[in-house]
Amino acid sequence: MANWYQNAIFYELHVRAFNDSNGDGHGDLAGLRQKLDYLQWLGVDCIWLLPINASPLKDDGYDVASYYTIHPTFGFLEEFKLLLEDVHARGMKLIVDMVMNHTSDEHPWFIESKRSKDSPLRDWYVWSDTTEKYKDARIIFTDSETSNWAYSAETGEYYWHRFYSAQPDLNYDNPAVQQAMMDVVRFWLDMGVDGFRLDAIANLYEREGTTCENLPETHAFIKEMRRFVEANYDDRVLLGEVNQWPRDLLAYFGDDGQGGSDELHMCFHFPVMPRLYMGLAMADNTSIIDILNDTPTLPNGAQWATFLRNHDELSLEMVTKEEHAYMWSVYAPKPEMRFGLGVRRRLAPLLGGDVRKIALMHSMLLTLPGTPVLYYGDEIGMGDNVKLPDRNGVRTPMQWNSESNGGFSFAPAAKLYAPVIADKKFGFAKINVEAQQADPDSLLNTVRGMITARKANPALQSGALVWMAGAPKETLCFTRGADDGQQYTTHVLHNLSDQPQQVKLPDGLEATDIFTTERVSGEVTLAPYAWRWLRG
Ligand code: NOJ
Repeated sequence: MANWYQNAIFYELHVRAFNDSNGDGHGDLAGLRQKLDYLQWLGVDCIWLLPINASPLKDDGYDVASYYTIHPTFGFLEEFKLLLEDVHARGMKLIVDMVMNHTSDEHPWFIESKRSKDSPLRDWYVWSDTTEKYKDARIIFTDSETSNWAYSAETGEYYWHRFYSAQPDLNYDNPAVQQAMMDVVRFWLDMGVDGFRLDAIANLYEREGTTCENLPETHAFIKEMRRFVEANYDDRVLLGEVNQWPRDLLAYFGDDGQGGSDELHMCFHFPVMPRLYMGLAMADNTSIIDILNDTPTLPNGAQWATFLRNHDELSLEMVTKEEHAYMWSVYAPKPEMRFGLGVRRRLAPLLGGDVRKIALMHSMLLTLPGTPVLYYGDEIGMGDNVKLPDRNGVRTPMQWNSESNGGFSFAPAAKLYAPVIADKKFGFAKINVEAQQADPDSLLNTVRGMITARKANPALQSGALVWMAGAPKETLCFTRGADDGQQYTTHVLHNLSDQPQQVKLPDGLEATDIFTTERVSGEVTLAPYAWRWLRG
């Protein structure tokens, strides 16, 4: 039997952006509780919450100031417990972001550590009297940081940070740090969360002469965490954020010596994501097929997490130089659309608001191997706001209806943590949940239909992937689950181009369209950007 996370639909959301119950302009846990019906209706199995801990929000919560408290505008721990109860009562799961690599510079540990070279917590962070150490580690936030070292005036030394300088890295060489973070893990698991999305988990240790990523010491720590989780809890999941090539990611699943995994249960498949956009823009399936052919088989019990967009920039670290230039020219023609190497835009605006393309991308997400992770708002084709700084433009309030603030909050608009999208094309007056729920042909109902169909179809969840021979390169056509004894074998056709395409189904195949129940065989004509799921 597969583990729950191998077949689930994940939904990533930001509590601040989802629903404001008390009118202070910030989404909160109570607001999220009011929207669980919606998530259940959509078919979500597991909610992933972006960081909810107390934080000065210099990196939107990825700068944690206290691992044991919740950010005050979100609510108290009691409210979080109620949320968990409500989620579990619906048969759903909930995971939280766990930021282990670094803290905020306002965390009491760091305030104590920087105070003096003799501080008992000095060694909880990585200090140096020179910036010459670990030169081979890349700078991640190239738009704002010029070094991985930042000067601290209190002691005249530098501290190590892989992200913003307000996010000092913890020193995992110190057993007390390891213990402190395992205590945090225990606290949240005891509370009842179903697992963690582990932020920046490849970066825990530093070693001279290395990139300070993927080090053996990091793997040893993850193994220890997995052992602790398995020994004490049932059915929890560790989902790693590791932006690497699939072959290098394999090590993060570990190997228990019996064909199983003993590190992370899941990792995001970063490289496939930009190739879906590229395949669509070029009307050419080559790079999608290449990357999936180059994706190794995982150990038993492990799974990829696939996605179209998330709360960060659309990451382009896992493409070649030429592909990068192409992606920027198509998807980020203006400088304000870029962040680091990536693209700080949402799914719908990236695709010009073309509902055919947005649905097509969802179809690929929901039929290719992996557990799909949806990003809040993309199911209705929400827009973005490139005028907002950092990656905030893709984190604007959820658009529930056409009332004021899109139904997100009853606060005066000026009090919202970020303006709701209000432009003609993507604004809440036009793009909102309520309107799309009422329209059977809306993007939302289309995506929901796909989710329902996928959940009823074991072949789409776990069946082997076989490319359909002879399909034109302008299409992405494949069969899932031919290995399952035929009951659910599903043939999936996508037209990546703006021209009709002919696809010849396998000889002798008589298939049924899962959505229209039409019987099909022989040659199928796909309209521009059409997608079909055929069972047979
Ligand atoms: C990855 C997160 O997704 C991103 O939002 C954050 O800025 C960095 N890690 C640092 O925590």
